[in-house]
This record gives sequence, C-alpha cells and structure tokens, in this order.
Amino acid sequence: MFKVLIISFLIPFASHLLFMSNNQEVDYVASTTVSVGSVTTPPQKLTFSDPNQLLTTVSKDVSILGFIPKDIVSLSKLGYPEQSARSVVVSDLERMVDEAKKDGVILSIVSSYRSYDKQVELFSDYSKNIGEVKANTFSARPGHSEHQLGTTFDFSNEKREGLTQGFGLAPEGLWLAKNAYQYGFTISYPAHKVKVTGYTYEPWHYRYVGVEMATYLFKNDLVLQELDFTVYK
Ligand code: DAL
Ligand code: ZN
Repeated sequence: MFKVLIISFLIPFASHLLFMSNNQEVDYVASTTVSVGSVTTPPQKLTFSDPNQLLTTVSKDVSILGFIPKDIVSLSKLGYPEQSARSVVVSDLERMVDEAKKDGVILSIVSSYRSYDKQVELFSDYSKNIGEVKANTFSARPGHSEHQLGTTFDFSNEKREGLTQGFGLAPEGLWLAKNAYQYGFTISYPAHKVKVTGYTYEPWHYRYVGVEMATYLFKNDLVLQELDFTVYK
C-alpha cells in the first residue's frame, strides 16, 4: 500500500509563524506536528515551527530569528568551559566522545551553541574578508545557523585543528560519518547534498536530532531538510 505524505505544504505556514514577530525573543508557543509513514525506522512526528523541538527547520530559507534556547549549559564537564549546548544533548554527546575514545579516536569540540549576535559577528567578518556571496556558501546568515539551536557541534581532532574538508578522510571524520547516528547526530552538510542545503561540504558539522531520526536519515542517506519534500511509501 502506498502511504504518501508531502510535508512541504506545512513550511509556508511554519515560516509565517516564525516571521510574524519582530522581537528578538520570540514566543514559540505554536507548533505544527504531523505524523508520517516511513521507509524503515519511522520518525513519528515532525514539528516545524518550534526551535525548542529537536527537528525544527532552520535553513537558508527558514530563520529562527533571535531564538535563545532556555536550557543552555556549559560543556566544562567535558573539558570545554568556553563551549555550551542544550542540556538535552549532553549525555549522548558525552557517550559519543567516550565511545570514540574507546576506538582510539579523540574528538574535540571547536564550536557549539552560537547566539544570534555571535553569528552576526562571524558572518559579517567573513563577508568583509571574502565577500558576502562567498561567505554565504559556508556560513549561515544570523538567524539561519543550526548552531543557534544549541544542538549542533563542529568537531575536530585532539589538536583542535582548524576545519578543513580533509577532516572527512581523517580518522575523526570517518569515525563520525560511520557512527554518529548511533548517538543521535546527523551530518547536516554532506558533499553530495550541496544542492539541497546550499552549503559546501562540512564533514565536521553535526546536529543532534535524536537516535531515531539520526538512524532514519543515515539508513536512507537523507539530510533533515529533505524531509520537507520526501515522499514516504
Ligand atoms: N557553517 C554553518 C553553515 C553555519 O554557519 O551554521
Ligand atoms: Zn558548524
């Protein structure tokens, strides 16, 4: 039996909710949730309009404005006093870093939660240095970064080296590509999805979406954004 659901019709509605407010602190009480079918492991519910939801849409087209997560905690427990993230992510993050270590792979965290203002700083610095068009291929405009959700991380190696695409073939990048989904993390900007995401390949950038959804995306070779128009059978 064909069970078909095209979710994209919800996006204009969700975007409308997001753009309705001019305030930096937005009240995200409304949410749109829909049940979907599946190919393998079924993610039962997708909620699009509330950035507190793990699966919320944030992309080049959809902004979360000045959203500030309420449960941001320091990652000093993991050895990163300068980093922070939503508390809901921490135990799986810790578990992943520990398991990687058991495999001889040391993962470091070089970026995590970034505020709207921090993203203003980053994007305008890149724009000044290399031009806005180029900056836009690898840096999100303020309000459009998954880092602002507090559930997204840039990983590096033990030396916390700068981020290059070569990371994808380094032991840390390979380990993440193979295993991160088991801890609820999904790569947001794979090399073969540039047309979908609008961003160049970022083998270091992983977003926490929960184990069920991460597994689903991994097994079906999808990025979260593709669920906006995936047809489920
Ligand atoms: N580098 C990603 C796209 C960001 O700025 O969030
Ligand atoms: Zn990133």
